[in-house]
Amino acid sequence: MVKTQMHGKHWIAPEIEWNDEELWTVIDTAFDLKREYARGQRHDDICKGKSLFTLFFNPSTRTRSSFITGITQLGGVAYDLDPGKLQLAHRETNYETAAIMSQMCDGIAIRRYVKGVYYGEGNRIMREFAKASTVPVINMECDLWHPCQSVADIMCVMEKFNTRNLRGKKFVMSYANSPGAWKPVAVPQSNIIFFTRMLEMDVTLAYPEKFNLDPAVEAYTKKLADQYGTKFEITHDMDEAFNDALVVYPKGWCSWEILKQGGYDEKLHEEYKKTHNLAAWKTTPERMDRTRKNSIWMHCLPADVGVEVEPEVIFSNRWSVSVDEAENRLHGQKGIMALTMGGRR
Ligand code: CP
Repeated sequence: MVKTQMHGKHWIAPEIEWNDEELWTVIDTAFDLKREYARGQRHDDICKGKSLFTLFFNPSTRTRSSFITGITQLGGVAYDLDPGKLQLAHRETNYETAAIMSQMCDGIAIRRYVKGVYYGEGNRIMREFAKASTVPVINMECDLWHPCQSVADIMCVMEKFNTRNLRGKKFVMSYANSPGAWKPVAVPQSNIIFFTRMLEMDVTLAYPEKFNLDPAVEAYTKKLADQYGTKFEITHDMDEAFNDALVVYPKGWCSWEILKQGGYDEKLHEEYKKTHNLAAWKTTPERMDRTRKNSIWMHCLPADVGVEVEPEVIFSNRWSVSVDEAENRLHGQKGIMALTMGGRR
């Protein structure tokens, strides 16, 4: 399953806009490049002389460093443009900015999930850029999706179990306690779709009442699971979710009740902490003991140690794969850039 013409394609919501063959081509290309990297083989002809503009409206460690070094290894260069120093800060439009930038570069990568405005605003802005841009726009995380993270996560699970044949195995995407309301729902939304579509795993989504994801995304995942003949189940019991799981991925996210009101209401989150006993939604070694013997614990990072997860889990060689998972951000994104910025025209 290899698609050979993906040059110029936007990577904004591949969860719903790219087909399985295209997504497998990204993952296979990423593995090819990772193997070459391990062997010390260069592949700097793929994007030779090309440039990527990165625009981070929110902080980042993994995404920023992996895009910058990734394009360098492909033979190009990244310019990390601070949106605060662009005329966007003086209300120049996204349309003008994208049209002009795309005359000068070969890819525009954007991170934008926003506080205090309506859910979907970050994604809408990326689409405005894409409308005016003549080069691919890459989503480095918006308020709906974090597809670069999901590619790295799929690669990590395939590697840890040394197979892509994980159909019917239990993948748990769980809410975990968060000190604040600000965390986006992008990672859980992308992952429930990716793990259903790509690995055909049985996905369990666990969260306390009021912490559901976008109902349209949950409904879409259920439809996909029915189509693939797999399970998509929702529970409000973290212990039950962990029972017999092969992969657990517990992380904090914002309550849908808060998001749909528009923004990240910290006061309401403080109330939910008490009324919904959020502190109990933490990964402990005892909870991990409910999972299968060879199970893994995943997290996109950064994690709130002691709040979301106990140190005995995140720093354990037995369960935690979060560092290898983060390394795959580099290889996954090289796959995406090689095909959309490089690739056959
Ligand atoms: N997982 C992730 O996107 O990390 P950063 O926020 O550090 O980029």
